[in-house]
Amino acid sequence: SESELQDIYTFAIDLSRKAGRAIVEGSSRRFSSSAGFDQKKNTADLVTETDQATEELVKKEISTRFPSHQFIGEESWAAGEENAIGDAVTWIVDPIDGTTNFVHGFPFTCISIGIVVDKQAVIGVVYAPFMDTLYHGCKGKGSYVSSPHHQTPTQLPLANPQPLPSLTQALVAFEWGSDRRSAVLSKKLSSFAKITGDAEGGVVGGKFAQGVRSIGSAALNFCHVASGSLDLYWEIGCWAWDVCAGIVIAQEAGAAVVGSQTHAKEVIEAKEGFNVVTPQLLTGRKYVVIRAIDGADDG
Ligand code: IPD
Repeated sequence: SESELQDIYTFAIDLSRKAGRAIVEGSSRRFSSSAGFDQKKNTADLVTETDQATEELVKKEISTRFPSHQFIGEESWAAGEENAIGDAVTWIVDPIDGTTNFVHGFPFTCISIGIVVDKQAVIGVVYAPFMDTLYHGCKGKGSYVSSPHHQTPTQLPLANPQPLPSLTQALVAFEWGSDRRSAVLSKKLSSFAKITGDAEGGVVGGKFAQGVRSIGSAALNFCHVASGSLDLYWEIGCWAWDVCAGIVIAQEAGAAVVGSQTHAKEVIEAKEGFNVVTPQLLTGRKYVVIRAIDGADDG
């Protein structure tokens, strides 16, 4: 019901701030040696004790308050738990999105909490504790930001809700992820070249993005597209916990989120009708989020 959903939403926001405090406390230990963090599949895929402790804290709080709810978390999954999205309300959590940033003290780190009801993502909460910035959204109710600059929740997008006339005025985010195998990397490099460079035969016909960023957190990329400070975000290799919350926040701010698409043209064509977050979209692993590019000529 509406009031149950509101309860879950309020609880998730409070929980993100509590987790944020745990993340900040965890950062007080230096990661200059390998103590405190470990690699998963390679040296670019890290997990810290703070990721694990924060996930434990969040999981415990959720199961105490909502015992019938399901939980899917990055670290529980890494430890072998494989919960599918079922009929129960499902929380999809990345305790620290931007773990490499966390280890290096680069402040783009957040907790990402997505909530799926009837197999659709309906609530997204992303809290970046080092910047004290909270993004949250709920299906049909818009998305919001609170930060030291916006003490009371302010509706997204913040600025220039008009589509940009061209890719040439766009600030684009690209992530490199942790999968650096040459076949995967060459796809990343060729998409990067098409969108950011004046390559002959590129998708944009001599037009290229005005600026390119890699901030190292999938969830924060979604939020920046939602707020209007990024115009497009492209990545291959995300997991449901990286994107679930961000999808709700971005879509509620009017962005189009497309999985398994790499060309901006297809994104624009697919813009209408992608407002439902299906399990396929959550597990597609390949994403383009776009909000501000208009004009089919740009490809
Ligand atoms: C990663 C970050 C990174 C993105 C990867 C994610 P993690 O999440 O969001 O920016 O490129 O695809 O897996 O490992 O820091 O939680």
